[in-house]
Amino acid sequence: MFIVLDGIDGGGKSTQIERLAGRLRDRGETVVCCADPGTTAAGLQIRQLLLNRADIALAPLTELMLFFAARAQLVAEVIAPALAAGQTVVCDRFLLSSVVYQGHLGQIPPAQIWELGQRLFGDCQPDLTLVLDLPVPLAATRTQRALDRIESRGAAYLESVRQAYLSAAAAWPDAIRLVDASPSADVVAEQIAAEVAARATARVTERRACS
Ligand code: TYD
Repeated sequence: MFIVLDGIDGGGKSTQIERLAGRLRDRGETVVCCADPGTTAAGLQIRQLLLNRADIALAPLTELMLFFAARAQLVAEVIAPALAAGQTVVCDRFLLSSVVYQGHLGQIPPAQIWELGQRLFGDCQPDLTLVLDLPVPLAATRTQRALDRIESRGAAYLESVRQAYLSAAAAWPDAIRLVDASPSADVVAEQIAAEVAARATARVTERRACS
């Protein structure tokens, strides 16, 4: 399975990725964790340009294409080989982040970004994208580190990011599931495990129906 965790910062993505990976490994699965943008050498260079170089201007389409470039490398180098080997992939952000940040919050129609991703990444689409959702003030109390170029756009911006995730989840309910990230990490981990188990069962049923 290919599982993505996404959502506003402060939702506990990193903690939950570790917990989910640990839980799946305990069940005997080989799990590959990765991050978009990042993980590959090219992706990390692109990430620097995207997030840490406020001195370099990027037009909206340039920004989108750079996120796609980092993602294409991640798919080619990490995700596709892992899936082909029957491994489970857990990824920190993926296509939905571009739909939200460069689409809803940017200048490019969100549906076009979603469709472009479907076309470009073919068989390497996430089986499930989980959005860790919580109110922005609560998320802010959980974020300790310095904000990057996109996050430092302000609290009102972060609220619109949250609303954009909610809209996207409503638009593509089969692909995107909301998880309430307000409770403790233990409770959130249980919700995530339940969503992943439900999707795994649905996949088995679909395969049986096809064969
Ligand atoms: P993140 O993975 O959360 O990195 P970190 O936890 O180290 O900050 O996200 C990096 C930033 O990039 C985040 O502000 C969201 C943004 N982003 C986009 O704007 N578009 C995208 O397609 C992706 C994947 C991320």
